[in-house]
Amino acid sequence: MQKYDVIIIGAGVAGLYAAMNIPVAKKVLVICKDIPWECNTFYAQGGIVTALDDNDVPAHVEDTMAAGAYHNVKKVVEILSKTSLETTKDIIQKGMVFDTDATGKLLYTKEAAHSAARIIHAGGDATGRYLHYFMMSKNPHHLEQNMLVYDLLIDDGRCYGIKATVNYEPKTLYADNVIIASGGVGSLYEYNTNSRTVSADIHGICVEKGIALQDMEFMQFHPTVFVDTPLARKLLLTEALRGEGAHVVDDEGKRFLFEYDERGELASRDIVSRGIFDYKRKTGKKVYLDLSMFQPKQFHQRFPNITKTFEAQGYKLPQDRVPISPAFHYANGGIACNSYGVVPGIKGLYVVGEAARTGVHGANRLASNSLLEGMVFAKRAVDYMLSQENHNTKMPKFDKDYGNILHKDNDKAYKHQLRKIMWEEIGIIRTTKGLHHAKNFIYDLKNREIGRLLQLRLNTASAIVDAALLRKESLGTHYIENEEQDI
Ligand code: SIN
Repeated sequence: MQKYDVIIIGAGVAGLYAAMNIPVAKKVLVICKDIPWECNTFYAQGGIVTALDDNDVPAHVEDTMAAGAYHNVKKVVEILSKTSLETTKDIIQKGMVFDTDATGKLLYTKEAAHSAARIIHAGGDATGRYLHYFMMSKNPHHLEQNMLVYDLLIDDGRCYGIKATVNYEPKTLYADNVIIASGGVGSLYEYNTNSRTVSADIHGICVEKGIALQDMEFMQFHPTVFVDTPLARKLLLTEALRGEGAHVVDDEGKRFLFEYDERGELASRDIVSRGIFDYKRKTGKKVYLDLSMFQPKQFHQRFPNITKTFEAQGYKLPQDRVPISPAFHYANGGIACNSYGVVPGIKGLYVVGEAARTGVHGANRLASNSLLEGMVFAKRAVDYMLSQENHNTKMPKFDKDYGNILHKDNDKAYKHQLRKIMWEEIGIIRTTKGLHHAKNFIYDLKNREIGRLLQLRLNTASAIVDAALLRKESLGTHYIENEEQDI
């Protein structure tokens, strides 16, 4: 029987930074569903927020709270911001290279709803790739790919490990501690910017075990995404473009976002997304990101990843304007935990990164806070876990297995229908009628012949729709359209 000190589910920023902070002497297994770079960290473009110095902490906290519609847990936001300086210092000391000017000083950019330029970046617009590569190279523990977790071993208030397929073979793996770092829920939505591996399975297991999900009505949509591609993952155009001067325009070149907020393109992400969505719906016009104010040479240097990606799609940047739409980007809510990643009521179970609901993001995440959150709270969880001396002395048997019924014949078609209904009814603008329609649809699917993985997705979808139905008033990314409400 295999038993580990720690199993970490997920190899994005939170999972890998947790691994980096656990001593080599511990028996640790990091697992990921596919190849390790199929994770949201890898696709992150903009950068990592860091308070500029101690004096900038209150402003960063206020920007985070204002973007989050003050639904955030302030104490936790303060931890995020105060810890940002030591966290970025730590990774730089360990060898992470960020973009600097000719004198070696860090370059900072600004994104929407930040009151200061406080975002550091790497490889221009390839921060996620650089960070992921750096963390993969620093992970001292064994990483197993192609491992799909389909159950958590939970009995009488404690977690004993996981069930997973390893190269399609079902296995039971025991551990004293399990850290969930499996990301958000992107694959539930028709249009999304997420890696295809991010499909809410672990959230669904938590629902099944009675572990609380929190703030699930707050799903975040990124305003500037190129969706005209058959790929499941739609192509992001980083917030940093608008932060550095790009405009959102209609067919005639009109910058209409000022009709929605006096900050125009620099309003918070929820407002910009809703403005674009509403303007398209109202006018039937197309909406574009206009980059023509950038000098080509400077643009290619600063945004090399976007330049190349869009060249492959037939766009010459910055000269060509790019048609854009909002698309699902990030789950502000997630598995409930405290500021040490502890899942209440389940000994030995932790959650970090996008999978976690720490309370940092409130009703809408401030741009580029997520990589920072992944690191700050992964380290806190690991420090706490290591202080606990938590050893499973008994090994209960977990006989129920689903290894052979993960998929059923019609699942693919049902998943597609689910993605469509999530986008249409539990998307940027919601109505009570639409939410009820989605709830009934999900309920109906749950009662069909479906495999376990779809069942888990549906559990998470139910948690989102139920949370959305419970919140009667609009807040942050949760926007309920009522007759008397203006956008
Ligand atoms: C972006 O680069 O616009 C994404 C950054 C984020 O999601 O915070």
